[in-house]
Amino acid sequence: MAIEAWFMEDSREDQRLPHHRSPKESVSLDHLAELGVLYWQLNPNDYENDEELSKIRESRGYNYMDLLDLCPEKVENYEEKLKNFYTEHIHGDEEIRYCLGGSGYFDVRDKGDCWIRIWIRAGDLIVLPAGIYHRFTLDTHNYIKLMRLFVGEPVWTPFNRPQEDHPARKEYIKSLTEKPGVPLEAH
Ligand code: LAC
Ligand code: NI
Repeated sequence: MAIEAWFMEDSREDQRLPHHRSPKESVSLDHLAELGVLYWQLNPNDYENDEELSKIRESRGYNYMDLLDLCPEKVENYEEKLKNFYTEHIHGDEEIRYCLGGSGYFDVRDKGDCWIRIWIRAGDLIVLPAGIYHRFTLDTHNYIKLMRLFVGEPVWTPFNRPQEDHPARKEYIKSLTEKPGVPLEAH
């Protein structure tokens, strides 16, 4: 099954619910790609020997890797961390997450500033570009196991919205206005 994504309804109810609009409005992989969000589906049972994963890591320079089990027993300041993950923010670098078990939602803002909810399950690897406004929440199953990848020494610092003057934000906005489909090398 490929990844599922949809536009979110406005609601103050439990963040762990799907929050579909009525009727549902799905978002395609192409739409996500236009926002700079990349996606691969891999075999989560073989992540230690997976050649496809190795190739992605090599080609994108993801030399750093660690594993994160998000459950109250394994994480210090669990509630506080989850609250911070769900506060709208950007990073100076890509956020690369590979789901090895459980599930959760990465929400990203589209060009019109609406929330798109991306449902991540075992086998889903996504890359959020530097400078995109986003947030993360568990779903109602309350568990996710994530591989975190990074280029070089990891920096996880979130910069909460508004960040219009942050260099990564400016760079991201610029990338959105470039013609779609024109490789960066051509500029
Ligand atoms: C984050 C967690 C999900 O950085 O890794 O948002
Ligand atoms: Ni983040």
